[in-house]
Amino acid sequence: MSAEPLLTVDRVSVHFRAGGNLLTGVSLVRAVEGVSFTLQQGETLSIVGESGSGKSTLARAILRLVPVTKGSLHYRGENLVTLSQDQMRPRRRMMQMVFQDPIASLSPRRTVEQIIEEPLRVHFPDLDRAERAQRVAETMDAIGLLPDMRNRYPHEFSGGQAQRIGIARALIVEPELLVADEPVSALDVSIQAQVLNLLAEIKQARSLSLLFISHDLSVVQHVSDNLMVLYLGHVMEVGPAGTIYSRPQNPYTQALLSAVPRMDFSADRPKRTRLTGDLPSPTLEHVGCPFASRCPRAQALCSTDKPVLTPVDGREVACHFPGS
Ligand SMILES: Nc1ncnc2c1ncn2[C@@H]1O[C@H](COP(=O)(O)OP(=O)(O)O)[C@@H](O)[C@H]1O
Ligand SMILES: [Mg+2]
Repeated sequence: MSAEPLLTVDRVSVHFRAGGNLLTGVSLVRAVEGVSFTLQQGETLSIVGESGSGKSTLARAILRLVPVTKGSLHYRGENLVTLSQDQMRPRRRMMQMVFQDPIASLSPRRTVEQIIEEPLRVHFPDLDRAERAQRVAETMDAIGLLPDMRNRYPHEFSGGQAQRIGIARALIVEPELLVADEPVSALDVSIQAQVLNLLAEIKQARSLSLLFISHDLSVVQHVSDNLMVLYLGHVMEVGPAGTIYSRPQNPYTQALLSAVPRMDFSADRPKRTRLTGDLPSPTLEHVGCPFASRCPRAQALCSTDKPVLTPVDGREVACHFPGS
């Protein structure tokens, strides 16, 4: 059927040692717990979950920017976890990242041209000045940045334009995988759609694979092939985006979706399940379901047994009592 996946993430955990004084000792932050998924070439997987659910840590682990505590990451069949940072460097060209806060993530003292060409200097050191300038011009044109912006500085631009600069910088080395971590969360709502459309166009034109991270389900609705819902580092539900949007099975996904504004005033519209209480501490090790403490559907079983991902209605759900 389908070819070998571009990326296979297998039971990846990322733990951090945090805090620690004489009284409390060092605690272990379980940012990502046993996450598995595959990404095919040309596919967009959106990763959603509340702030603190481990989305950025997972993205950074995939790029080997934070150490992977357990599990494996195969990129085109090669296990990245066993590579040294030196061995990782040439592979990094294939995986580029776009960040949340466009202006803060661009160096303020560099011109747009210097910012966009920097990855070329790292990954294509043999290009001369003219060749670099040529590539910068082509990339700016493809992203909708005007040539006369070249010699200006990031702070002179609006958030939307600055994010285009960040996207140009990521694309100039022609990656296969783009990891966009909340790329529109810092932008005005009116600008968000423009940047989302731009990402969708680029993805199509370059058959890029995209990991699209957002805390906001409404943002990813129109850009995702597949959707993965994270809670406290655990995968709660994963599968085709349309299937999950139309009939979410995990109560956590339902709660996230019910926070999305909809123009639906019909009598049989889905009931709102609001999230109450705070996210539990990420230092807890869960024997049961990590969502049990906030789940409207929780039973005794949920605090004693951790649900595993199980196929339900065309997607996989980690819940003892799935249902829409
Ligand atoms: N370097 C780190 N050291 C200790 N804890 C961290 C570190 N990075 C992230 N965390 C913790 O890991 C958890 C997940 O964080 P993060 O991946 O940033 O979540 P998200 O991107 O979904 O908001 C949070 O509890 C966060 O405080
Ligand atoms: Mg984050």
